This record gives sequence, structure tokens and C-alpha cells, in this order.
Amino acid sequence: MSKIIAVAGATGNIGTRVVRALGQQGATVRALVRASTKAEARTELERLGAEVVSVDMNNAAALSAALEGSESVVSTLSGLRDVIVDTQSKLLDAAVAAGVPRFIASDFACDFTRLDDGENRNFDLRREFNQRLDKAPIAGTSIFNGGFADMLLSGQGPFFDISNRRVQYWESPDQAMDFTTMNDVAHYTALAALDPSAPRALRIAGDVVSARDMAALATEISGVEFSLFRLGTADELARKIRDARAADPESENQVFPVFQQMQYMHNMFSGRAKMLHLDNARYPSMQWTTLRDLLASNAALKGLSAR
Ligand SMILES: NC(=O)c1ccc[n+]([C@@H]2O[C@H](COP(=O)([O-])OP(=O)(O)OC[C@H]3O[C@@H](n4cnc5c(N)ncnc54)[C@H](OP(=O)(O)O)[C@@H]3O)[C@@H](O)[C@H]2O)c1
Repeated sequence: MSKIIAVAGATGNIGTRVVRALGQQGATVRALVRASTKAEARTELERLGAEVVSVDMNNAAALSAALEGSESVVSTLSGLRDVIVDTQSKLLDAAVAAGVPRFIASDFACDFTRLDDGENRNFDLRREFNQRLDKAPIAGTSIFNGGFADMLLSGQGPFFDISNRRVQYWESPDQAMDFTTMNDVAHYTALAALDPSAPRALRIAGDVVSARDMAALATEISGVEFSLFRLGTADELARKIRDARAADPESENQVFPVFQQMQYMHNMFSGRAKMLHLDNARYPSMQWTTLRDLLASNAALKGLSAR
């Protein structure tokens, strides 16, 4: 009988990809959705082979019943404190009550274990949840993947400025940064969810590149010279973050406001959230997508040489 894996946040961007990847690994997928989830989203999850279970995360008994028999719970929830700390804690308690052996937290980030509180608002929430996970009688796993490569390196910023043929950077063009495509993250997460001895933290990167590497690759692939454009120092970026936060208190209620996006950039360009080692080799079936692979299929980049 195939293993049952429960996915919370199954309608989301990463959640749907994890459901698909688990199906490809032969797992039985229980996709947890809200009562409000639209019929099309349920049908899409069913089309991927998942059993769709509508459950109220505030109903402890119903939630633990929904998790019964699962080998792992994968959380791909996204939100602020009410979701990352509060709702994930309810999911964690239900997983423990149902005797689920493993909980994979919705981390999917740069290595925030080395950051101090205050360096990244969204990562602070994840560290807080992970402290609860550490105390719970269940094996916890965090997956650190750097930035989502296809989201951040598509050409619409924050790194590439394809129309101006340049790569933007803070502090140093030689700071190495970790990136993984969303499908590679989902595939690896599926393998970890099915791995009875997955460790507490798994660190991966489909590619590790600097701004200088990005410009060189873009130049090579497009046949058009890409330059490097310095936006400022890391300290200047830290000041901009403080100013943006002070100027717009409402942004504290948004998941990805401007100040938050700048905090991710600061963590990456300062090197403070850089992975120090990678667990890419743990699952030999993984075929990693590199920046070269991504840029080679980037229509905007290819279009430059055609002009
Ligand atoms: N490393 C990177 O570059 C990067 C970039 C983006 C995201 N991420 C991370 O990846 C993870 C997944 O993000 P995503 O982009 O896939 O998020 P998403 O597309 O916004 O999906 C979030 C999921 O969580 C569900 N959800 C939110 N609040 C809920 C609640 N209170 N109760 C039940 N379900 C709830 C949503 O359900 P509904 O559909 O019903 O709303 C949805 O299924 C997050 O940890 C995020 O921070 C990383």
C-alpha cells in the first residue's frame, strides 16, 4: 500500500506542485482544503490524483481525523502570524494527536537559522513556529531552498532588468546566492515527505550564483552585453528597509510588502542567509534546474538578440 502524505495549503502555488510531485512518486495524497475552496481548485487537485479533504483548521478533532494514517504532513501554508504561528500550530497539534511521524514546516526559504530576530519579519515568524516544532513529539523537517529561481530570475526584477540589459545588485556583485526552481523544491519536498529518516533540516540549491554570474550568463545566452548595476551598500539597503517600514505602518499587515521584499534582498546580498552546505545529493533522482537552463528558455532574453 502506498504511503499517505497530507498536504496543507494544497491549493497554493507550492502546495499544488507538492501534490503533483507526491503523485509522481506513487504516494497517496490527502489534500487539505478550506470549506471555501472553489470547485475548480478541488477538481484540479483531484485531477492530480489527490483525495481532497475539506477541513476547518480550527476544529482540532476534525483536523486530526483528516491526518489519521499519514506518514507526513507537509505544510505549504502562507501568511502572517495568524497562519505561520497560529494555524500551523493547530496543524502540528493535530498531527501529534493523530500520531503522524513527521511534520514538514512551511519554510521553503533562505537559511534563516543563522539570522537574528528583526532581520526578516517573515523569517522571525517561521523561527518562532520552528521552536514549537522542536518541542513537539514528532519529527520536524525544514527545507531551505534559497530564493525561488523561476520567480526571482525571470527578468522582471529584482535581479534582472532585461529591458535595460543589466543585473542589479546590493553591496557586492560577487556575493554567491542560492536559488531553486519551484518544481525542484516541490519534487525534493515530496522525496523528503516519503523519507522516514529525513533530518531536521535539508538545505538545497538548484544553482548558486552571484550577480556577476547572472550578467555573464545573460550576455552569453542573449548575445547582448549585460552590465552590472550597483543599487547601493547593504547598510543603505538596511536604512531603506527601516524608512519604508516607518513610512507605511499598514504594510505590517501584508505578507510581501516592499519592506519585506527588501529584507529578503538584504539577507541574500549580505550573505547572512547563505547556505553553508547543501543536501542536494541526498536524493540521487533529483535533476536540478540551473540558471543556465532557466535563462536558455527565457523568451525576453532570447528576444534581445533577435532585435
Ligand atoms: N523562497 C522563495 O523565494 C519563496 C517565494 C514565495 C513563497 N515562498 C514560501 O513558500 C511557501 C508556500 O507559499 P505559496 O507561494 O505556495 O503560497 P500561496 O500560493 O499563497 O498558498 C498558500 C496556501 O495556504 C492556504 N492558507 C492560507 N491561510 C490559510 C488558513 N488560515 N487556513 C487554511 N489554509 C490557508 C491557502 O489556501 P487558500 O487557497 O484557500 O487561500 C493556500 O492553499 C510559504 O512558506 C512561502 O513563504 C518562498
